[in-house]
Amino acid sequence: MRVLVTGGAGYIGSHAVRELLETGHEVTVLDDLSEGHRAAVPRAAQLVVGDLADREALGQSLSGAGAVMHFAARAYVGESVRDPAAYYRTNVAKALELLWATIEAGVRRFVFSSTCAVYGDPRQVPMQESHPRRPINPYGATKLAFERALEDHAATGALRVVALRYFNAAGCHPDGSLGEHHDPETHLIPLAIDAATGAGPRLTIFGDDYETPDGTCIRDYVHVTDLARAHVQALDVSEAGAAFRAFNLGSETGSSVLEVVRAVERVTGRKVETTRGARRPGDPPRLVASAAEARAALGFAPRFAELETIVESAYRWRRQHPRGYHEEARA
Ligand code: UFG
Repeated sequence: MRVLVTGGAGYIGSHAVRELLETGHEVTVLDDLSEGHRAAVPRAAQLVVGDLADREALGQSLSGAGAVMHFAARAYVGESVRDPAAYYRTNVAKALELLWATIEAGVRRFVFSSTCAVYGDPRQVPMQESHPRRPINPYGATKLAFERALEDHAATGALRVVALRYFNAAGCHPDGSLGEHHDPETHLIPLAIDAATGAGPRLTIFGDDYETPDGTCIRDYVHVTDLARAHVQALDVSEAGAAFRAFNLGSETGSSVLEVVRAVERVTGRKVETTRGARRPGDPPRLVASAAEARAALGFAPRFAELETIVESAYRWRRQHPRGYHEEARA
């Protein structure tokens, strides 16, 4: 089947593209390359460079497609607090254009890249899909708004939707050819690696006075290829069951910022220099997934669940690609 992957030049999208190609699907990538990288899209995939709301680009991208995987989005919690309009524009307004074009084109399967940020502050941990959805930052609010739009459109019978709510994606492709390259980088694991190797400044720890055992925020780090595989599994099951389904994807283990720092020190064999900073607005203290539903319905079984394995993988990419995708051509 041909699958349209929006944001397929981005971090998680590019890993999903690889997984789709390896499982025998054909792929069209629609990406404006504002965050994504041309070099992350293999030549075996068709690449349409264009905006999500551009009707012509959408028409071209949807031609021959049997399913859509929608990754293209803005995804920085901190930025969303400072500039909510950019998040509502891309994650809701433009995403709706994609949704309507998908329905108009008669494409019935839709896999949505959602986030645990739709839940907000956890009432209990681990978090299940039935957890109340009360986002505490505009990023989570916009992802939830689009989930709701998908749910309402699925209810009409127009399409079948699987929303995947990821926790903290990290790591690189096991063959080292794809990895994380954000400009600027804001994520903890790459920044801690750069602090250890001297490629970046010392790491600022955003708050050490949370109600957690060591005072720093706890997150559930999940390997990017495990996430990518779950998207193909979601596509496979999207014809059965309810018209809208949502699944958490996480490794079900919580790691604090300080535990990540120690894992980076073990993996790199170097000290991570840190400074204490203020809490980052929009950060919930603790996010850990229950992935029981994804296990049962999708057969989700992370292959790289250990924090140290995930950090090793991220470190490999950083070592082999110190400048990320800069100056690299499509494989
Ligand atoms: N952190 C630091 N210092 C840094 C960077 C991060 O202390 O320099 C901390 C953050 O405060 C947070 C943890 O490390 O507690 C992880 O932060 P990341 O920025 O790596 O990831 P987030 O948890 O903010 O964001 C991720 C995804 C989002 C998703 C969100 C859910 O990137 O897409 O989890 O809250 F929505």
